Amino acid sequence: MGYNIAIDGPAGAGKSTIAKRLAKELNFIYVDTGAMYRGIALYMIRKGIDPRDEAAVSAAVPEAKVTIKYEDGVQKIILNGEDVSGLIRTEEVSFAASTTSAFKAVRAKLLDLQRDLARENDVIMDGRDIGTTILPNADVKVYLTASVETRAKRRYDELIEKGESHDLKKIEEDIRLRDEQDMTREISPLKKAEDAIEVDSSNMTIDEVVETIKSLVK
Ligand code: DC
Repeated sequence: MGYNIAIDGPAGAGKSTIAKRLAKELNFIYVDTGAMYRGIALYMIRKGIDPRDEAAVSAAVPEAKVTIKYEDGVQKIILNGEDVSGLIRTEEVSFAASTTSAFKAVRAKLLDLQRDLARENDVIMDGRDIGTTILPNADVKVYLTASVETRAKRRYDELIEKGESHDLKKIEEDIRLRDEQDMTREISPLKKAEDAIEVDSSNMTIDEVVETIKSLVK
């Protein structure tokens, strides 16, 4: 059994930034489970399947083979043999992933893959249900959150840095909508595990969050 650190929290809380840093410093593998859900969502979009159509999505799930590989320590998402890592960060895929990840067939498909990775490796795994469902016995569980305004502003700054112009209010609305979908779904909704430590990063630097989590690692 590997040493397992679970980081859950809403979109834009800084999970991946923090998890990547921690993985490097602790020499663990970083497993981005959201990227796996995004890979499946991309498959549905490409097939022209409406992400809200549970029957159609569930029927197509077996055709989407999602695996991961690491290149220089960076996780790549492989969809039916193709590296789609560069294609899964769009708003369209974000929403489709939030929608299709509510379906039983989609969650069941990724559960074993995620558990196997944690069994065989020392991992930092981030997502929505890692501490509650995937790794209930994780050695460290963190619920990383931040206010909607902070999360929207971070996303906005990221997009501006990339040279894309965006509307802050629209980003804020999108985040609220995604929170709502992720927190209210029936199966494995996003919520803090009872034994998770809550870290609110709204007024913390990345270094502070990394140090806080590192102090929990024994
Ligand atoms: O972390 P992310 O934004 O890349 O995740 C994309 C979507 O995938 C998110 O809106 C909800 C879903 N997801 C999930 O249901 N369970 C996980 N463990 C990770 C992500």
